[in-house]
Amino acid sequence: CEKPDARPLRQRLLVVANRLPVSAVRRGEDSWSLEMSAGGLVSALLGVKEFEARWIGWAGVNVPDEVGQKSLTKALAEKRCIPVFLDEEIVHQYYNGYCNNILWPLFHYLGLPQEDRLATTRSFQSQFAAYKKANQMFADVVHQHYEEGDVVWCHDYHLMFLPKCLKEYNNSMKVGWFLHTPFPSSEIHRTLPSRSDLLRSVLAADLVGFHTYDYARHFVSACTRILGLEGTPEGVEDQGRLTRVAAFPIGIDSDRFIRALELPQVQDHIKELKERFAGRKVMLGVDRLDMIKGIPQKILAFEKFLEENSHWRDKVVLLQIAVPTRTDVPEYQKLTSQVHEIVGRINGRFGTLTAVPIHHLDRSLDFHALCALYAVTDVALVTSLRDGMNLVSYEFVACQDSKKGVLILSEAFCILKFAGAAQSLGAGAILVNPWNITEVADSIRQALTMLPEEREKRHQHNFEHVTTHTAQEWAETFVSELNDTVIEAQIRTRQ
Ligand code: G6P
Repeated sequence: CEKPDARPLRQRLLVVANRLPVSAVRRGEDSWSLEMSAGGLVSALLGVKEFEARWIGWAGVNVPDEVGQKSLTKALAEKRCIPVFLDEEIVHQYYNGYCNNILWPLFHYLGLPQEDRLATTRSFQSQFAAYKKANQMFADVVHQHYEEGDVVWCHDYHLMFLPKCLKEYNNSMKVGWFLHTPFPSSEIHRTLPSRSDLLRSVLAADLVGFHTYDYARHFVSACTRILGLEGTPEGVEDQGRLTRVAAFPIGIDSDRFIRALELPQVQDHIKELKERFAGRKVMLGVDRLDMIKGIPQKILAFEKFLEENSHWRDKVVLLQIAVPTRTDVPEYQKLTSQVHEIVGRINGRFGTLTAVPIHHLDRSLDFHALCALYAVTDVALVTSLRDGMNLVSYEFVACQDSKKGVLILSEAFCILKFAGAAQSLGAGAILVNPWNITEVADSIRQALTMLPEEREKRHQHNFEHVTTHTAQEWAETFVSELNDTVIEAQIRTRQ
């Protein structure tokens, strides 16, 4: 007879996010290569281990034929991933259009793209229809794979319609929804034509989570002001049904980074980088090439620093890794050209025959190369104009225990929170207003000349935070609260 499994039973978790942790590239009719996807959501969820997790999402590729769909489904199954197949038109309207041209800029307070405000307004209805249709397609796949007792955890602004679709399938499904971006002030959210539909649909979830208390507060006030519902300390109440709303600050799998630094290939990379940049301080930026990341502003601040501190010109280098993203969206294409133009101008202005001040790479690095780069960095610049919770800052800190480099981070001004991470790494980082290039330039000087004792003190604070607030802890807290929320709701219903 079969030996009983000695492991404790782990809860099955269906993670549903627009993007799978791997993106597929077709190599032949039924052959695929799978590459790691970029972004904070993937980086955090990869650190979630204590569940029997399946990941449902889009593999980032159009697969119109049955042979392709079958073979990709098989290849992804090995990674515990289940694909949702979206055709080109849906991707255009739902992903490029409604998600990335409307919701993303709006949730980051950037408004609609200036040049095509009217065009965007006109195409709004069709894009919202595609958004709903895509969300329904995700719900169909969840429904096919759902088993009694599973927890369904929906992620991000792409899937705000999903909780409602799932509850329509099965009202007893445990559904949580978590937003990886800021949730804006209700004054911003109210400008969306589909504002009420989105709120109502999210409220169908049992638990709604945000990175910070402020984002949660904004969501609750949008529900009270726009829908006229009642906000309570626990969440939002609608005709006796409570949707619990709370903050769950995310983290990373810090051990994965710390362990990687010991690997021979990472040590080799570190040695090469040290030789390559000997005699110069290394400053680093790692961002998706996205307007919220403030890359042009950061580079202009670096230019100002070089302008005002001529003795540093041949003693410092800025390495900017800009990972291409959403390349079909015109705003992103414009940003790429703008960044190239600024980098070219500054390198022309301050470069010499043997060295340039900025090394700009339009691509991602593999995990080991990235760890090595973090480890040799003296100053990291994480200066997003606004961000949900920037995890690059966490990754940098995790790799810095021997160097104790300085983190320059977007700050929290009064109630304005730029990068969510500023609330957690605030005491250890130099906080700056990313829009103020004079201030950022000053902070670069401060970071490069900081005394070792102060660097050590600041690093210890950050390191302690990053290694104790991990992705695993984040997920466990969310899922356990979701389980409790459902049980409480059942008790309330029986009463
Ligand atoms: C952000 C979003 C994620 C998204 C990632 C990469 O981190 O919150 O949901 O996956 O950016 O963007 P992309 O559009 O390439 O999936």
